[in-house]
Amino acid sequence: MVRKIRNGTVIDHISAGNALNVLKILGIKGSEGYRVAIVMNVESKKLGLKDIVKVEGRELAPKEVNMIALIAPKATINIIRDYKVVKKVRVKLPRIIDGIVKCSNPNCITNRPREHVKPRFKVVSEEPLILQCSYCERYTTREDVVKQFKQL
Ligand code: CTP
Ligand code: ZN
Repeated sequence: MVRKIRNGTVIDHISAGNALNVLKILGIKGSEGYRVAIVMNVESKKLGLKDIVKVEGRELAPKEVNMIALIAPKATINIIRDYKVVKKVRVKLPRIIDGIVKCSNPNCITNRPREHVKPRFKVVSEEPLILQCSYCERYTTREDVVKQFKQL
C-alpha cells in the first residue's frame, strides 16, 4: 500500500487502530517536517489486522519507542538504511513508567495540578498490562491508557 523507505524507522505490527496513538506517544505531530506514512487496518500474517507507521529520515532510539509497548506490545521497530532492514527489535516496556500515563485514581496526588507531582508507575504485568501507581498504589490497565490517549 505504501512504498518502501530509503532511510528511517518502520514501526510494524501495531495492534489495529493504534497508529495515531503511537504517533502521540512518540510526540510526532507532522510539523517536524519528517515524511510519515500511516497504514491502518491491513492484513498481517501474525495479528489479523495491524497498523504500520513509517518515519523517513529519522532513526528512533529504543528508549523513545519502548513506551509504544503500553498500547502495542507486539510492535517491532525496524531501522532502515539504504532500503535494507539493518535492525529489528520488539518493543520492550521499561520496569518503571515515568510521565506519559495518568493515574486512574482521580484523587491521586499526581492528578492535582497544584502539587506538580509527575506520575510514576511500576510495571506489575505486561500482558495483560497492569501498572501500579508509586504514590497511591492504584492499578492502571491498558484500557485506561488507551482511553487517556483518545482524549488527547
Ligand atoms: N520496510 C520499508 N522499507 C524498507 C524495508 C522494509 O518500509 N526499505 C517495511 C516493510 O514493508 C515491513 C517492515 O518494514 O512493513 C519490515 O520489513 P521486513 O523485515 O522486510 O518484513 P517482514 O520480514 O515481513 O517483517 P516481520 O518478520 O517483522 O513481520
Ligand atoms: Zn496514583
